[in-house]
Amino acid sequence: MTFGVVRILVINGPNLNTLGWRQPELYGHETLADVEAKCVAEGKQLGLEVECFQSNSEGAIVDRIQSARGVFDGIALNAGAYTHTSIAILDALLAVGTPAVEVHLSNVYQRESFRHRSYLSKAAIGVIAGFGSHSYVLALSALKQQLETASDAEVKKG
Ligand code: DQA
Repeated sequence: MTFGVVRILVINGPNLNTLGWRQPELYGHETLADVEAKCVAEGKQLGLEVECFQSNSEGAIVDRIQSARGVFDGIALNAGAYTHTSIAILDALLAVGTPAVEVHLSNVYQRESFRHRSYLSKAAIGVIAGFGSHSYVLALSALKQQLETASDAEVKKG
């Protein structure tokens, strides 16, 4: 287990600020503030310190990922539509190397074929999709487990 506080950055991309009224049949009725509060609370239960960030702008997301280097232990990223288009966000994740989980509220594989391709999965430990806001909770739990496994392996190596 990593010594000290384990810090996770939750990033939400474009249009996720409209949660609550955006296509509720797909994305549910919770607002972004509800989802972020859930991440902080569930994170606390898991012993994680969670910080949240949202932007509609690709460059701002790239900047936030870059500034997470050496500060956060893991990233849970719902890049929204940029998932399916952004080589810049992929490159930022590859550059910082911080363990990241790709998150989606909806089951993107049940939807239009353009949502089946992710540019970001290449840089992610794994992908969690289709569980609504619980997808974020699953991502936090997966990150905790991965970080513990990685640091146990470090300890064994000595
Ligand atoms: C989404 C799925 C994307 O295809 C879409 O563009 C979003 C939200 C999801 O959480 O299900 O904005 O990432």
